[in-house]
Amino acid sequence: MRSSGGITVKEEKSEHTPVLVEEVLEAFAAGEPREALSGDVVDGTAGAGGHARALLDAFPNVRVIAVDRDPEALELARDALAGYGARAVLARGRLSALEEILERIGVERLVGFLVDLGASSMQLGRPERGFSFTNDGPLDMRMGPDERRTAADIVNTWDEADLADLFFHEGGERRSRRIARAIVEGRRRAPFLRTLALADAIERAVGRGGKTHAATRTFQALRRAVNQEGEELRQALLLAEAELVPGGRLVALTFHSGEDGEVKRFLARGAREGRWQLWNKRPLEPQRAEVRRNPRARSARLRAAVRKNGLHAHPAPAAGGDA
Ligand SMILES: C[S@@+](CC[C@H](N)C(=O)[O-])C[C@H]1O[C@@H](n2cnc3c(N)ncnc32)[C@H](O)[C@@H]1O
Repeated sequence: MRSSGGITVKEEKSEHTPVLVEEVLEAFAAGEPREALSGDVVDGTAGAGGHARALLDAFPNVRVIAVDRDPEALELARDALAGYGARAVLARGRLSALEEILERIGVERLVGFLVDLGASSMQLGRPERGFSFTNDGPLDMRMGPDERRTAADIVNTWDEADLADLFFHEGGERRSRRIARAIVEGRRRAPFLRTLALADAIERAVGRGGKTHAATRTFQALRRAVNQEGEELRQALLLAEAELVPGGRLVALTFHSGEDGEVKRFLARGAREGRWQLWNKRPLEPQRAEVRRNPRARSARLRAAVRKNGLHAHPAPAAGGDA
């Protein structure tokens, strides 16, 4: 197993190396001794549990509520956190359902909230999940069973103009119209059901070239739409604002410029209006050494802030274990 910063989580075909771990811990400490952070911390995108484990190791007085929408990810997190007993509570669900999850668990004093968005290496690396444009799989891309539609549903039913808008706005794909036209023409012959068939059609429409595969941005846009990633992030930010106690810390890791912009605007407005104190004005990015070790870290951006005032109304904490 490869190891990086002491934390790696191995899975059958791929492993997930958490990004910016030291920076995440620094942001949660917010300049105070680590013992001072005391209460519950939500890791709303637990994945394989790498960040959750680092938080539990670094902050002796916190309980971590590890949540993920993907049942397979949650099993990995369960393994990673097995040694922490009642200090780690696991729950499956989406960021947009967190309010209810926290209520069920009985979170009383939420002092930290972490989101590490996007897909994990396990999801991207397993062709049967349908995220890969280099290994064939069903055109699925659902991160969890709550998602109503697959990527195939979108590709085979949306209007050409809507597809083009999606690829442009959610993937930053400048050739979005050409790709949307090729998809609509292609699906008249047969619906797109496999990832490679779609990736090939995109490559034929716009040609090869460049450092990244021609289908990269289109696949990203489809994944974001299938999993409603924009709306999920908005809900997570609102929940953090509503639930964190004064002094509580929000740390957001994003991998998409649109998402980073969303977090930036949300926190900037909150800071102007006295609800947040920014931990960093410019987003933190990984050092070159980290990117060498873990290329997925390349586009990571970290923003963090401390809640200045807030209301909280959850019942008393329950014992640890599963929620
Ligand atoms: C980049 S990985 C997180 C990795 C994790 N920090 C670690 O150290 O292993 C992102 C995870 O977030 C989950 N996820 C993405 N969007 C989510 C959402 N809206 N609600 C809950 N989980 C989500 C994915 O299923 C995936 O497992």
